[in-house]
Amino acid sequence: MAATPGNKLGKIAIVGSGLIGQNWSMIFAGAGYNVTVFDVDPDQLTRAQTSLKNTMEQYERDGYLRGKLTAAQQMSLVSTSSSLSECLKDSFYVQECVPENLELKKKVFAEMDAVASEDMILASSSSCLCASMFTDGLSHKSNMLVAHPINPPYFIPLVELVPAPWTNQDVVTKVRALMEEVGQSPITLRRESLGFALNRIQYAAINESWNMYQSGLLSAEDIDRVCHNGLGLRYAFIGPLETMHLNANGITDYCDRYAEGAYNVQKETFKPVPVMYDVATAQKVQEEFNQTIPLDKLAERRSWRDKRLAELSKLKKTLDGEK
Ligand SMILES: NC(=O)c1ccc[n+]([C@@H]2O[C@H](COP(=O)([O-])OP(=O)(O)OC[C@H]3O[C@@H](n4cnc5c(N)ncnc54)[C@H](O)[C@@H]3O)[C@@H](O)[C@H]2O)c1
Ligand SMILES: *[C@@H]1O[C@H](CO)[C@@H](O)[C@H](O)[C@H]1NC(C)=O
Ligand SMILES: *[C@@H]1O[C@H](CO)[C@@H](O)[C@H](O)[C@H]1NC(C)=O
Ligand SMILES: *[C@@H]1O[C@H](CO)[C@@H](O)[C@H](O)[C@H]1NC(C)=O
Repeated sequence: MAATPGNKLGKIAIVGSGLIGQNWSMIFAGAGYNVTVFDVDPDQLTRAQTSLKNTMEQYERDGYLRGKLTAAQQMSLVSTSSSLSECLKDSFYVQECVPENLELKKKVFAEMDAVASEDMILASSSSCLCASMFTDGLSHKSNMLVAHPINPPYFIPLVELVPAPWTNQDVVTKVRALMEEVGQSPITLRRESLGFALNRIQYAAINESWNMYQSGLLSAEDIDRVCHNGLGLRYAFIGPLETMHLNANGITDYCDRYAEGAYNVQKETFKPVPVMYDVATAQKVQEEFNQTIPLDKLAERRSWRDKRLAELSKLKKTLDGEK
């Protein structure tokens, strides 16, 4: 019988070997699980295998590799398969990572449904689609849900678990335990909601950034500075609610003192819901970035970002007394 999370028997299936599939493979192998990766494109599967090996070796040199095993040991836990049914066979957990496209998700979940065992859990990495949109009518739909990672999941541990109305509660509990066990940081939504939780907060931030830029209040660079040299430093350790709690004598005191001020700011500055990002503003912001991070420097800048996220993740683990 397929194993349950915790006893490290059985294996994990990764369906789709792009950016997110590779991250999940490293996370599960880092925790000591056997991983089988499938991709519809055999060339991509080969590229993914090479890339996984190189990345793990690089992380080992940099001191970023997760878990207690060496890169070579972790790599030996990862195999590839050019057959979906072979990939899923004997797996207790499947993490689907194919492109974000509803028709494709429907197709892949139907294919997986046809070969899934009774107790196999099937999670989608989907960023925007809810499980009810692509699992309706499937025979194993009570074992299916969304487990949404944040890029890059190897260094940003949050995973949003979003059950469909028909997802078995026990399945959600098991996935949450699995995510904790492999070193991710799960949150559980009680029901489906567009944008889940992270994107609702992220869009609120982008939204106000956009509005401030559009009104000419400050430059794009200075808006970003509000986060990476301001709010972001705080938010790496405490969230907006704990911020309220600590910035006064508790939440209720914060509300007594600051609610009216906050209300006035919002009433005064928040505009009615537009908000399709308008082309004119987009071009102005792009022009600013063209000076500092032109399009041909994006990949370089992403590595720069990941290096900092890796160091921050290391620091957080040290401070939290984790491994
Ligand atoms: N990239 C991100 O920042 C990010 C963050 C969180 C969640 N996600 C979600 O993760 C999922 C995957 O994103 P990604 O960025 O890794 O995409 P990607 O394009 O890098 O990789 C997708 C992979 O799926 C493969 N594929 C296509 N059709 C397939 C099929 N029928 N069966 C098996 N494999 C197939 C492709 O060959 C490709 O290797 C999406 O749902 C996305 O929304 C992405
Ligand atoms: C991984 O697979 C190997 C070979 O099948 C097996 O010996 C080992 O017990 C498995 N390990 C885990 C953690 O499942
Ligand atoms: C986005 O901005 C508009 C305009 O300020 C506001 O009405 C809307 O509520 C905002 N949405 C979010 C998610 O903050
Ligand atoms: C930014 O630079 C790209 C080329 O890298 C160019 O295609 C684009 O038109 C520029 N955009 C603006 C708004 O200047």
